[in-house]
Amino acid sequence: MIVLGIETSCDETAVAVSKDSKILHSEVSTQTIHRKYGGVVPEIASREHEKLLNDMVDYTLNKVKIAKSEIQGIAVTQGPGLAGTLITGVCFAKGLAQGLNCKIIGINHLEAHIFANFLADPKLEYPFICLLVSGGHTQIWFVEGLNDYKLMGETRDDAAGEAFDKGARILGLGYPGGPEIEKLAETGNEKSISFPRALMQSKNLEFSFSGLKTSLLYYVEKQESLCKEDIAASYQAAIIDTLITKLKWAMDKTNCKTCVIAGGVAANQKLRKFVNQTMKNKKVIFPELSLCTDNAAMIAYLGELYLKKGFVSPIDFPVLPNMKLA
Ligand code: KG4
Ligand code: ZN
Repeated sequence: MIVLGIETSCDETAVAVSKDSKILHSEVSTQTIHRKYGGVVPEIASREHEKLLNDMVDYTLNKVKIAKSEIQGIAVTQGPGLAGTLITGVCFAKGLAQGLNCKIIGINHLEAHIFANFLADPKLEYPFICLLVSGGHTQIWFVEGLNDYKLMGETRDDAAGEAFDKGARILGLGYPGGPEIEKLAETGNEKSISFPRALMQSKNLEFSFSGLKTSLLYYVEKQESLCKEDIAASYQAAIIDTLITKLKWAMDKTNCKTCVIAGGVAANQKLRKFVNQTMKNKKVIFPELSLCTDNAAMIAYLGELYLKKGFVSPIDFPVLPNMKLA
């Protein structure tokens, strides 16, 4: 089956084509215009998607030598995300689906992040634990099958990616903050400052990162001279320690043999290294870097799975900015 995937939940305009569960091509355009504002401006993001989508679809289809008439289904991100950017993508997808008279399915962006791991390892077997760490979410899922997910824990306040982004802003770094902090941390000493790790008692699987961000703010305000490398390394270590400790607790609790990491923060090399070290006797899967951050390959892949099982969305399906999983 040939499926066109479209992703516009935030500031990446992304288009991909899957055929028989293989990604033929995946195209991502990251909107750099937001960098000067230190975060995503929703109205600008929607307009950028609008400008790019048509050409990106044509480019992607040309690249894989597939005609529009061969598309059997369109998978598009329905939520969660920014209302305006979701509407841009979904309206574009609906128009195309009607014009081509093909099926359409709205996809949950978080679920697609989890399923990006099947692109990393097509032999991935259920059940597995997924640590989902993105700009808007930090969650631990027990995944027993397609559409069979149990939430084991999530953040009470900021997401891990948000902690990176807000920390970077406090340090005067660029957006998105994760890669900026990671780069600076490479030459810093992570033991130099002891930042707090929240909710670390009694195998609690909830997260909280807002206190960490506040303690960084106080630290920066108090110090006369700052070694940004040491601060970045210590701050990153506090986030990663918390994520790994809770992932390990979830693995122990369920006796699961496999864990997967999903979402933009999964691109962090230190996180990848420590998860591998901590889970030595377990199977650990990470998507390749381009499949950790937002992309349409994961949308096309999951869309094809659902379409093959007979699921379709009605043409008037709404966008769901606060869409939940399970
Ligand atoms: O999944 P994603 O691309 O978009 C959302 O669905 O939110 O995740 C974006 C988040 C941002 O907060 C960004 O700072 C973070 O992922 N991120 C990273 C890295 N690359 C992206 N965080 C830590 N280290 C990285 N290398
Ligand atoms: Zn995402």
